[in-house]
Amino acid sequence: MEEKKVMLRLIKGDLYKLKTDAVVIPVAEDAQLHENEQVILLTGKTETAGEFRGAKGDELTLYNLPAMKSPRVIFLGLGKKDKIDSESLRVLCGKAVKKCIKSSLKNILIAAPSSGKLGMEIKEVLEPMLEGAFLGNHIFDKYKGEKKNKPLEKVDFFSEQKVMINFSGLLSQVETVCNGTILAREWVSTPSNCKKPEQFAKNIASIAKKGSLIIKIFDEKKLERLGFGAMLAVAAGSHSKPRLLILEYAPKGAKKTVSIVGKGITFDSGGINLKPPGSLEDMKMDMSGAAAVAATLISAAKMKPKVGIIGVIPIVENMPSGEAARPGDIVTGYNGKTIEINNTDAEGRLILADAISYVLKEYRPDILIDVATLTGACVVALGEKIAGLFSPDDELAEKIIQSAKKTGERCWRMPLPEDYRELLKSEFADISNMSSSKWGGAITAALFLSEFIKDTRWAHIDIAGPAYTKKETDYCGAGGTGFGVRLLCDLIQKL
Ligand code: BES
Ligand code: ZN
Ligand code: ZN
Repeated sequence: MEEKKVMLRLIKGDLYKLKTDAVVIPVAEDAQLHENEQVILLTGKTETAGEFRGAKGDELTLYNLPAMKSPRVIFLGLGKKDKIDSESLRVLCGKAVKKCIKSSLKNILIAAPSSGKLGMEIKEVLEPMLEGAFLGNHIFDKYKGEKKNKPLEKVDFFSEQKVMINFSGLLSQVETVCNGTILAREWVSTPSNCKKPEQFAKNIASIAKKGSLIIKIFDEKKLERLGFGAMLAVAAGSHSKPRLLILEYAPKGAKKTVSIVGKGITFDSGGINLKPPGSLEDMKMDMSGAAAVAATLISAAKMKPKVGIIGVIPIVENMPSGEAARPGDIVTGYNGKTIEINNTDAEGRLILADAISYVLKEYRPDILIDVATLTGACVVALGEKIAGLFSPDDELAEKIIQSAKKTGERCWRMPLPEDYRELLKSEFADISNMSSSKWGGAITAALFLSEFIKDTRWAHIDIAGPAYTKKETDYCGAGGTGFGVRLLCDLIQKL
């Protein structure tokens, strides 16, 4: 997986004379969003076309307007001005790019609305627009013989002089973070036969080594020597051997260290508790947490935040076989706790427990955040677009919620009720990996992880819903969404 080329620019000039395949103008239903005279003049042309009101989803293309060099002007509706937020701008640019890709265009120009008119900061307007365009331009067609659609070569953003001077740094920041998101998307969309643990770990390492990251890979022998009993139990059923990947970003003078841990199940069959048909098909995505963590470190190494970051990525394939762990097996985790495996499909918490115990002991981070496609129950609770956030730490949870709002990678805080802990009691071992109740599965999974945390500041983000999409959305194609990369990159800069 290679990183993609640069394609965003901020430009100004005479809109009528600019050479581009299409000029895209966002329009509100009830207000003028632009300050530029030429753009205002053009939006006036929509009034004669009765079918365009600027309502959300409205589209109008005018061809070969007099004196206009660009052959097309595309108007896209944003709805009511007061309802416009960063996500609607992200969506609009994603849609614009996708529409133009389908028309086989190469270069487009999007007129950015005036921040003053929107009552937002310039950065609040530009950043999501750049993101929507960059992310909407990604096409995962590596496994297609015929590449039907080609990404745009260039997207220009038309705005004022002061924007161009002050926000050139924003461009490279957006490109770095969105390239990370795309990297994660591609890893997630890659089929499981092409990302067996060893291969996936090597692939991450080969990209990570281009940045200033310290990279360690533990193979199965080392994991055995070190006592990763829970992780090895999950790996036991597969011919593909497990790997633990550690990516470290250690800037000089860092006052804080945050560890991010990502679930990396390259395929989750459920193991001996085999998943039924219908639940198996998309389980190549069960390494989305790992992808988000790896891509965040690769992006962070370029953005150079002040905090130290330790990415911990346990990578395992969960398969049934004669060697596989059985329901009822008892294993000893890295921290010495015994775990009764009452359901081999609750494997994510097992590999995370060992990864968490290891990083706490060896690195003593100030904060630990894990990201995992952990439970179907979380998707039942919050649907496919919102992640579950679990943390006993109000301040940390609030920071994550703020980053979620800013990036559009939504998180909803969930409870960690003390009295539910007893649902994880085992008759024979220190803890069971399976709740004795069939309800509240996302909560009991989070409580299981909390048993391995001790007193470190911690948050768990269950991304089982938003990590993957079966159908394309406004700025994402079908497959991995890269959820978590933009969220974590934003958060890290605030810690
Ligand atoms: N990988 C799944 C969770 C999942 C479900 C991710 C749907 C994405 C979409 C996880 O390992 C799992 O199987 N969890 C079980 C836990 C249960 C056995 C306690 C679940 O959610 O059913
Ligand atoms: Zn599972
Ligand atoms: Zn799983």
